[in-house]
Amino acid sequence: MGKIYVVGLGPGDSEMMTRKAAKVLSESDIIVGYKGYTELIRGDYPDKEFFENGMRGELERCEKCVELAKQGRRVALICSGDAGVYGMASPLLEVAEREGFDDVEVIPGVTAALSGAAILGAPLGHDFCVISLSDLLTPWEVIEKRLTCAAEGDFCIAIYNPSSRKRSDYLKRACEILLRKLPGSTACGYVRNIGRVGCEKKVCSLEELAVEQTDMFVTVFVGNSRTRISGGRLITPRGYEV
Ligand SMILES: C[S@@+](CC[C@H](N)C(=O)[O-])C[C@H]1O[C@@H](n2cnc3c(N)ncnc32)[C@H](O)[C@@H]1O
Repeated sequence: MGKIYVVGLGPGDSEMMTRKAAKVLSESDIIVGYKGYTELIRGDYPDKEFFENGMRGELERCEKCVELAKQGRRVALICSGDAGVYGMASPLLEVAEREGFDDVEVIPGVTAALSGAAILGAPLGHDFCVISLSDLLTPWEVIEKRLTCAAEGDFCIAIYNPSSRKRSDYLKRACEILLRKLPGSTACGYVRNIGRVGCEKKVCSLEELAVEQTDMFVTVFVGNSRTRISGGRLITPRGYEV
């Protein structure tokens, strides 16, 4: 029997991949992934065998991994950021469970909330939550409730999947929900293409965020009541008397 590693690559830049992830990739027989991610690393592993497919091919990728591992191969299933955060770890474990395959190891990576926060300064310096605006697998009412509860709890919020071509106004809708509970002056920001070509950041108020154009390569940050903008950065105090 082979083994499956579910590997988080980090945001994109190979310097931000963990050494463990790089070791697992170099020791694997085959790398499986969404083609946007295999393209990111193919140059670093020129002699490696790859299996790739497109968006919505998640379950096929998982099934392929189990099939290959049952043939005795060491398989690395890759995804961006961390494998457990809106990544491939849970679908792979569910497919492996269904297929009676047990030898799976999850290798953590730097998720976009953390790599993006570092670019903006320290927006997640206190209690925070992570909310995805994608309603492909989650009903919008649930997303709306989670946004409302996060605002009521005065959490800093990292927002994933803020919009896409089909969901171009979702961030605006999310901001409108947050604005029912939070002042328009709440400190916010976003980062596009973290660790990739075209990386850019912006800090702004929640009111301004509502009219910003984002896409699926952006992670958004909404501060708590104490978060402030300083020198183009976001600072969420921990509470020290500085
Ligand atoms: C399906 S989720 C995958 C998250 C990933 N597993 C992680 O831990 O970062 C996709 C969303 O993650 C965020 N994201 C992932 N990589 C990013 C990057 N390099 N730059 C900006 N945002 C990113 C974006 O919000 C994007 O829409």
